[in-house]
Amino acid sequence: MYNIAVAGTGYVGLVAGVCFAEMGHQVTCVDIDEDKVELMRSGGSPIFETGLEELMQKNYKADRIEYTTDYENAYRSADAVFIGVGTPEQPDGSANLSYIATVARQIAESVESDTLVVVKSTVPVGTNDKVEQFIHDFLVNDVQVEVASNPEFLAQGSAVKDTLEAERIIIGTESTWAEQMLQEIYEPFKLPVVSVNRRSAEMIKYASNDFLALKISYMNDIANLCERVGADIQDVAEGMSYDERIGSKFLNAGIGFGGSCFPKDTKALDYIAQQNNYELKTVRAAIDINKSQKTKLFDKAGDRLITFDGLKVAVLGLTFKPGTDDLREAPSLENVPQLLEKGADVFAYDPVGTDNFSHIHPEGKRGKGSITYALNAEEALEDANVCFIFTEWGEIKAVEPDDYKKLMRTPLVYDGRNIHEVDAMKQAGVEYYSVGRPSVE
Ligand code: UGA
Repeated sequence: MYNIAVAGTGYVGLVAGVCFAEMGHQVTCVDIDEDKVELMRSGGSPIFETGLEELMQKNYKADRIEYTTDYENAYRSADAVFIGVGTPEQPDGSANLSYIATVARQIAESVESDTLVVVKSTVPVGTNDKVEQFIHDFLVNDVQVEVASNPEFLAQGSAVKDTLEAERIIIGTESTWAEQMLQEIYEPFKLPVVSVNRRSAEMIKYASNDFLALKISYMNDIANLCERVGADIQDVAEGMSYDERIGSKFLNAGIGFGGSCFPKDTKALDYIAQQNNYELKTVRAAIDINKSQKTKLFDKAGDRLITFDGLKVAVLGLTFKPGTDDLREAPSLENVPQLLEKGADVFAYDPVGTDNFSHIHPEGKRGKGSITYALNAEEALEDANVCFIFTEWGEIKAVEPDDYKKLMRTPLVYDGRNIHEVDAMKQAGVEYYSVGRPSVE
């Protein structure tokens, strides 16, 4: 078993650290945020993730994991330091590597024995060569430090499961020493390991995420065409899914992909291509389609209604997908401000995302309109003139077609996640628009 330090306790770092501890390694998670470290020491998780808190508490009790701001001590005694800090998007689409650079420098100044540095964060191809050079430039002691790439494939909401039962572990190394150590660290997971060179590992991460984004944008594109030719995207997707070469996952059309990964990683690869004098036309198309998809229903509703001014608008779902409180690149963030600007009185409901959303849009009068946070879907729908569905939470799927008819002043629903049956809405007498399916007018 190895002594592992993990830099950064966001989704990637914390989940990796806890899972390494669960596999028997000795783990120290490092974060600069004192409050976060205190919270984790007392058994609380700074992120909402199924099963994470239990595993944190179990491994903390068993003395296999600790949390600290003292990076020097943590890195000094580690066999391997995993970097899981953020690489946020910059205005030009490139990845901001300043957090990685800060950690790399701290490692260089702290390590006192040979250390493997493993980058889990998503970074542009070639970055890990630079990180290694950067560490060598700042090394204080006469020790060997090598950098390996080990991209992360977890999805929010199922992060622990995705890590413990990953479909594959990608390790990108430039020496047998690094490869062997990573093979041994992952040995207890009993999962398929694909060992490649560092640049290929970096590319696998982008190519995988962008392929999934492409799949979604493709289905959204086809869905838009389905609406025009009278086909139903859900039937089309089902028919396609029996072909194993296509597969059944990520075929759901809707109001576009959000989150901290697909929007950022599509733009980053597009940027990398441009930097290398190449035009990545497929990825560019996925980005463009996603942009217009996000406000598609708002635009449609704008055509149907004379004005949003003074209307009560129910918004069901704020997070970018169910199972997380994360709002990054969520369709709600594009649509709600536009509704407020047009004078709508928004009544929003989300099972867990309300707190985060109210930090951005505090309850009360906002410009010409106003926003109120409802405790449940029914409260949001009560007396509403129009309803938008942005996230397919179980609590929102549980709203019955009859409820819209009963609760709303005018049962007019724009469903961005295709959660209701078209026929059932028709029978209930709801005017219903979804994505890529016949509408009920
Ligand atoms: C994504 C990938 O699924 C992970 O494999 C990857 O590790 C992660 O990014 C990352 O790079 O860290 P995540 O962003 O958490 O994970 O969420 P997904 O479940 O993939 O959903 C992303 C977006 O696509 C959501 O807005 C979702 O609503 C949308 N989506 C997904 C669709 O519109 N249609 C689908 O069929 C599937």
